Amino acid sequence: MSQTKTPQGFYKPLAIGAPEPYRQLPVSLERMIHFIPPHIEKIRSKIGDMIPKVDVILGNLEDAIPADEKENARAGFIEIGENNEFGNTGLWTRVNCLNSPWFLDDVTEIVSKIGNKLDVIMLPKVEGPWDIHYLDQLLAQLEARHEIKKPILIHAILETAEGVNNVEDIASASPRMHGMSLGPADLAASRGMKTTRVGGGHPFYGVLEDADGDKERTLYQQDLWHYTIAKMVDACMGNSIKPFYGPFGDFSDSDACRAQFRNAFLQGCLGTWSLHPSQITLAKEVFSPNVDEVLFAKRILEAMPDGTGAVMLDGKMQDDATWKQAKVIVDLAKIVATKDPEMAKAYEM
Ligand code: GLV
Ligand code: MG
Repeated sequence: MSQTKTPQGFYKPLAIGAPEPYRQLPVSLERMIHFIPPHIEKIRSKIGDMIPKVDVILGNLEDAIPADEKENARAGFIEIGENNEFGNTGLWTRVNCLNSPWFLDDVTEIVSKIGNKLDVIMLPKVEGPWDIHYLDQLLAQLEARHEIKKPILIHAILETAEGVNNVEDIASASPRMHGMSLGPADLAASRGMKTTRVGGGHPFYGVLEDADGDKERTLYQQDLWHYTIAKMVDACMGNSIKPFYGPFGDFSDSDACRAQFRNAFLQGCLGTWSLHPSQITLAKEVFSPNVDEVLFAKRILEAMPDGTGAVMLDGKMQDDATWKQAKVIVDLAKIVATKDPEMAKAYEM
């Protein structure tokens, strides 16, 4: 017996009166998902100024919010949603995990009060497609009850060993899937990795160069997250949803943060989390395609107007495949240009 829905069934609303699921994700710029703690009044008062400076604002209700502030955080997030207009900046929340005492009220209260403003729910500690199916059905019921006009999307955090095992099934679980982020802290704990960091490298994880007499040997540090990010990117892009890096916890080391963001960007990720204002700037820099790359990519597209054949540009061979690579970069630059006039000028768009 088949375990998957028919193609027709896949796109059927899961409750009578719920909006039609998207067949394609809406185009949106999401270079950084900026995390804020909504129980803090001073933070709430600054949201208006923050909206034009970030691509996504996320009200965090899960880890880092103390247990006795969970309800204040939820109420604070609803207040933020009610009191602000977000324009083309996304409004997301990270709810508590499915087995917590707060999840059900997080989702039901938020959708009932600000469901028409909410773009995406980030779901932590997703283990398999069953977690997505549950939230998918619940959201459809709430959307129907509260007359929500557009589907609220789900973004999963990949942060358990079981979740990594099931990553492809999670990515294809529902047309409500927006994408996925790496959760390196929980994932490290779940896997039994011997680290105490939130993302980034580790000085002991490396390859020692070959012995050469008495010469001192260098340990070349490797990227601890390469395997997981690559697996997540394939699962996401193979299902037309978006892969993201996640948190980088050492705010004092912007060089290491930039390097980690850049590896994720080059491997296919479209954005990251920002947990500190300094990371907003870093994320903008890294997740907006490089100006020289964009200008070169534009030359490739211009040199091959129908995307076929082979030409030489500056001694480098271009063909149908490099045309597609160039299109990825130019398409992303065009989205950046719609939000960022300075980048539009630099990209000559
Ligand atoms: C994020 O939630 C993480 O666990 O790294
Ligand atoms: Mg986590």
